[in-house]
Amino acid sequence: MLCLALAIVIACCALKADARKHLAPEQVHLALYGADNSGYSTGMQVTWYVVDEPLGCTVEFGLSSYALNESTQGTWTQYYDGYHCSAVMNNLHGSSLYDYRVGSSGDAVWSQRFQFKAAPRTADAEFTMSVFGDLGYMSSEERPMLIWTDGLVRHWDASHSRKQLELLKDMGAIDFVWHLGDIGYVDDEFAHNPSGICRRSEEFSLANCYETTYNGFMNWMQNITSIMPYMVSPGNHESECHSPACIMDSHVGRALRNFSAYNHRWRMPSASSNGVLNMWYSFNYGPAHIVSINTETDFEGAEEEGTGDSHFKRFPAGSFAPKGEYLRWLEEDLRKAQSDRTSRPWVILGGHRPISDLLGTPGGNATVALMRKYGVDLYVAGHAHSYSRFAPKCSSSVDGHECLTEIVCGGAGCDEMPMKQVRGTAQGPGVFYTERMATGVLKVTQSVLHWKLIDSYSGSILDQVNLTYRSWGDIQTFI
Ligand SMILES: *[C@@H]1O[C@H](CO)[C@@H](O)[C@H](O)[C@H]1NC(C)=O
Ligand SMILES: *[C@@H]1O[C@H](CO)[C@@H](O)[C@H](O)[C@H]1NC(C)=O
Ligand SMILES: *[C@@H]1O[C@H](CO)[C@@H](O)[C@H](O)[C@H]1NC(C)=O
Ligand SMILES: *[C@@H]1O[C@H](CO)[C@@H](O)[C@H](O)[C@H]1NC(C)=O
Ligand SMILES: *[C@@H]1O[C@H](CO)[C@@H](O)[C@H](O)[C@H]1NC(C)=O
Ligand SMILES: [Fe+2]
Repeated sequence: MLCLALAIVIACCALKADARKHLAPEQVHLALYGADNSGYSTGMQVTWYVVDEPLGCTVEFGLSSYALNESTQGTWTQYYDGYHCSAVMNNLHGSSLYDYRVGSSGDAVWSQRFQFKAAPRTADAEFTMSVFGDLGYMSSEERPMLIWTDGLVRHWDASHSRKQLELLKDMGAIDFVWHLGDIGYVDDEFAHNPSGICRRSEEFSLANCYETTYNGFMNWMQNITSIMPYMVSPGNHESECHSPACIMDSHVGRALRNFSAYNHRWRMPSASSNGVLNMWYSFNYGPAHIVSINTETDFEGAEEEGTGDSHFKRFPAGSFAPKGEYLRWLEEDLRKAQSDRTSRPWVILGGHRPISDLLGTPGGNATVALMRKYGVDLYVAGHAHSYSRFAPKCSSSVDGHECLTEIVCGGAGCDEMPMKQVRGTAQGPGVFYTERMATGVLKVTQSVLHWKLIDSYSGSILDQVNLTYRSWGDIQTFI
């Protein structure tokens, strides 16, 4: 009798467990992949999340308006809850529209169809990207703050910048996004939910609010990330989970230390650029060489070389490559870009921290020295929750490639950025400074870098500048 009852319970639970399998792909996001002989991306890597283990990770794709007649098997990785699937759509025709869907053929579960445009493969292709750092997830209306000390603020709002991104996407005004670190502020989740108990599907679990929040952020961004490359750089807020729950539960805290969530969830083209994970990499796009630098680890004085953002000894971080390797890579990458200037006139660097922060450390100094030595044209950064555009700094022997302009664009509206409705003001560093929530848009042509700062509330242009070699020669600012 007992056996029968037990058998029924087991059978019914097995059935229930099966019916409860969650295999629907979520958090679908794209990144540029591979490099041809000219360093142009040859494909797109798509990454997505599945709650339960899928039989496989598959992408089906094809030229838009044809059948999805190509298919690639990918793989999944796991570092905590869930399965992070990734697969590559390679050998794409430059600048062509593709349709795709992701899922698991074995499980017969698929995402909706999405469409993207493959990257161009020529130096004359103009393009436009959205550029910003420090976005965060939703707003204090939707995710109220229960703790607001130590950098955290009570009233904040990332949804205005998110809405502007949606509009740019709807207008077809941008080809891709470059998020300069401090992506979802997932490590601040405890301020929204100090209990540390979060709901995932039907189950409650202790201490994985970090992951639940990251999942939420990725789904919040999916409209954009599923149809264009969403390129990311590491910021201090990517380094670890240091909520009280993660500190108390060392299994969770250790699984989430050392940029592990960041490096598992995103897939940047480091393999094709001799970079390391999502920590440093580069790619060519139209008339530009674009380098995502590492401002967080792997150089002398790097803030998270040794320990993560909390600097708790139990959460070690850094050393993604042997000592000195990162700066050696950066120099080699810039040297090569310099030799290709005739086809690609622009070298654009981006990283999380502003030059003023880098200059406080020996390795940061070396980084800035490399920018000057190899004539980097534009450096974009975040970290400061405001906007500062600096005048081009030119060396005395101006030959058209020795002026460096820095733009710090980290005021997208995260939960550490107070809501100030101020207009542009000169009360700050640079030739233009504002604390208004805003994101940047950079249009790149062979001859001009067109930069605009877009007000996240109104969509109006707060600041703009056109950088050309000739205009720079006239600027009398010397380092
Ligand atoms: C898929 O279809 C397109 C358009 O008809 C064709 O150019 C391409 O060669 C096909 N690919 C494969 C793998 O059959
Ligand atoms: C994503 O797109 C859908 C369909 O257009 C829309 O309803 C939804 O609000 C968008 N999500 C965000 C976060 O804007
Ligand atoms: C951090 O992760 C990287 C990549 O997996 C690894 O090489 C490095 O040793 C790790 N650092 C620490 C301190 O664990
Ligand atoms: C970095 O360089 C600046 C000058 O550019 C110098 O004043 C400073 O001492 C240097 N800092 C370190 C830590 O090397
Ligand atoms: C930059 O160039 C564009 C197109 O040539 C022009 O419309 C715009 O007014 C220029 N902006 C500035 C600030 O010069
Ligand atoms: Fe930061």
